[in-house]
Amino acid sequence: MEQQIKNLRERAQGAIKNSSTLKELDDVRVKFLGKKGELTSLLRGMSQLSAEERPLVGKFVNEARAQLETLIAEKNSELKAAELEKKLTSEKIDVTLSGRRVHDGHLHPLTLTLNRVKEIFVSMGYSVEEGPEVETDYYNFEALNLPKDHPARDMQDSFYITEEILLRTQTSPVQARTMERHKNNEPIRMIAPGRVYRRDDYDASHSPMFTQVEGLVIDKGISFADLKGTLEDFSKKIFGEKTKIRLRPSFFPFTEPSAEVDVSCVMCHGSGCKVCQGTGWLEILGAGMVHPDVLKMSGYDPEEVSGFAFGMGIERIAMLTYGLDDMRLLYDNDVRFLKQF
Ligand code: PHE
Repeated sequence: MEQQIKNLRERAQGAIKNSSTLKELDDVRVKFLGKKGELTSLLRGMSQLSAEERPLVGKFVNEARAQLETLIAEKNSELKAAELEKKLTSEKIDVTLSGRRVHDGHLHPLTLTLNRVKEIFVSMGYSVEEGPEVETDYYNFEALNLPKDHPARDMQDSFYITEEILLRTQTSPVQARTMERHKNNEPIRMIAPGRVYRRDDYDASHSPMFTQVEGLVIDKGISFADLKGTLEDFSKKIFGEKTKIRLRPSFFPFTEPSAEVDVSCVMCHGSGCKVCQGTGWLEILGAGMVHPDVLKMSGYDPEEVSGFAFGMGIERIAMLTYGLDDMRLLYDNDVRFLKQF
C-alpha cells in the first residue's frame, strides 16, 4: 500500500509538472484527488488493512494529498500568470499611434456664396421669400408686364411643361407672388433666392440652370437713390470696401427706368485685365424702379407707393469672389475642386 501511494504521488507530480494549461491542471486534480480519483479509491481499500496499519497508511495518504494540493496551487498560479502575460502581449495597443482622421464635408461654394448674399440682405432687414421652380406663365411673364408675344420673352425661352406651365426663367415671379400676399400698400423688403432655367448652352459662362437672388423693396417715397445706395452697400460688403459701382441704362419690361449694374473689377480694381476684358468693370446684376403696371397688377397703388427691384446671378458672384474662370466647375462635383473651399 505504501508503495502504491508512493507510485501515485510520483505520477501525480509528473502530471502536474507537465500541465501546460489551467484546464489540463484541473483534469490532473480530478484524476488524482477528485471524489472518484485515485487517492480516494486507495483510501477505500484501507478497510482491508489491519488496525495497526490503518493510521500509518492514513498518514501517508494525507501527506500525499497535502503535498499534491500544494503543488497544484503553485502550478495554478504559475499558469495563471503565464496566461495573463500572454494576453497582455497579444492585446497590446500602441497608444502613441496617431489617430485616423475623419474628413468632414462642407458646404458647396455656391451655397457659401448664396449664404453670404442672404446674410448681407438679412442684416439690412430683408425677409427671405421662396417661390416655385415650376411656375405659371402668368407669374413668370404676364404679371411682370410681359404679355404673350412680347419680344422680350425671346431672351428667356424655357422648358415648357404645358402652354401655361414652365420652369421659371427668373426669380422675378416671386415679386408678384409676395406683393399679392400683402394688402393696403403694405411695405415690402424681401429677397428671393432660387434656381432658374433657360434654354441655353453649357459652356464656361452659361448653363441651362443657374441660381438667382431677386430683391424687391416697396414703400412710400422709395427712389432710384435708394436703389443705388443699397446696391453700392451690398457690393462693398460682398467684394470689398474699395468696390465702386456703375449703372448703365437698360431695359426690363417690369422696371422703369432700368439699369445694368457693374462693379469695379475685383481683380484689377479698375485698371483693366483679362477678367474684365480690359474695361475695368464687371456686370453683376439687373435692376430698376418697379413699373407702375406691375405694382397695379399685384394690388399696389403706384400713386401711393413706389419700389425698386434687382436680380443677380449667384454663379457670377461666386466666380468673381473665388476667382473661377469656368462656371462648370461649380456643377461638376469634382471633389479635388470642391475641397478647396
Ligand atoms: N429678372 C431679370 C433677369 O433675370 C433681372 C432683374 C430683376 C431686372 C429685377 C430688374 C429687376 O434678367
